[in-house]
Amino acid sequence: MAQLEASTQLLSKPSILLNILPLLEAKGSSEIENIITTTDKLFKGAALFHKDIDAATKEALSYKTALHSGYKSIEATQTFDSQLAIHICSIVQGQPMHIRSKEPVFLTNSRSGEKIYTPPTGQDLITKKLTNLFDFLNQQTEFDPLVRMAVAHYQFEAIHPFHDGNGRTGRILNILFLSHQNLLSLPILYLSRHINNNRLGYYELIKNVTEEKLWEPWILFMLNAVCETATWTNEKVIRIGELMLEMKNKIQTNAPQIYSDALLETLFEQPYCRIANLVDNEIAKRQTASVYLKQLCDLGILKEFKVGREKLYVNLDLMRLF
Ligand SMILES: Nc1ncnc2c1ncn2[C@@H]1O[C@H](COP(=O)(O)OP(=O)(O)O)[C@@H](O)[C@H]1O
Ligand SMILES: [Mg+2]
Repeated sequence: MAQLEASTQLLSKPSILLNILPLLEAKGSSEIENIITTTDKLFKGAALFHKDIDAATKEALSYKTALHSGYKSIEATQTFDSQLAIHICSIVQGQPMHIRSKEPVFLTNSRSGEKIYTPPTGQDLITKKLTNLFDFLNQQTEFDPLVRMAVAHYQFEAIHPFHDGNGRTGRILNILFLSHQNLLSLPILYLSRHINNNRLGYYELIKNVTEEKLWEPWILFMLNAVCETATWTNEKVIRIGELMLEMKNKIQTNAPQIYSDALLETLFEQPYCRIANLVDNEIAKRQTASVYLKQLCDLGILKEFKVGREKLYVNLDLMRLF
């Protein structure tokens, strides 16, 4: 985690990562819930402001919006509490969500339909349990924040405060907790990658905590998930830094008149770039921006795609990384 943080800070503009990595996290976390989209659809959808997209891509984009919004909210309020969970779940679900009141929910095996777990019912009870959970997270105890995150993720899923969206809300809270604890300045850890790749184990270990109080394998699973995904994300961030340098050299050598740091950063912030992105970032007016992007295509740095009436310019090397 510390290495990831260091590599992030080495980038000329760390916040360029705030688009790409949360989009991948959104894809992975949604996939755990069988909401399947592709990286291409997701990036296209994000670039085109969520227009003309299928339901699964829309849900994954909502996940990214929720992650960002939660991050902003913590930055502004410095609080990590039940309201934050409600806020996040509402964005994930695209409608105001409330803590479950009377209606019980059951977690069932998707194949056999057999009941696996019945979470607590009743708004008062759930609210009390959530308060207890967030108190635990906010207390400085002898437990490392990573262990607290693992324990809390189990507990959040066991409480299952909402009708739906508990898995995704819980996983957003994990990442936000790490940045709230100053372990990451940006919420860019792709933690759902490991969980998605090992999702049967993830379900099984949650169940084993409930049924057999087997905490240790669960905590180790989550610690390992952090370790693996921090390493993976760190390697990607380092590679992004290298790619930026390579691309900078290529543009400065072959088209020095169009080069600016802002242009380079835009190509990494928006891997599916539109003319409007350059205009918005005050790099050039529309017509000039279009010439710049065309030149970058000629240099083999970008590839133009038409989506309806829009043109998207894809940063090929960057997308190949993912
Ligand atoms: N046995 C279990 N007990 C408690 N929670 C579980 C159990 N098995 C899985 N879960 C959690 O429930 C989540 C699914 O809940 P759900 O409300 O449908 O979330 P989402 O809509 O994001 O899919 C899983 O991602 C997992 O985190
Ligand atoms: Mg669900």
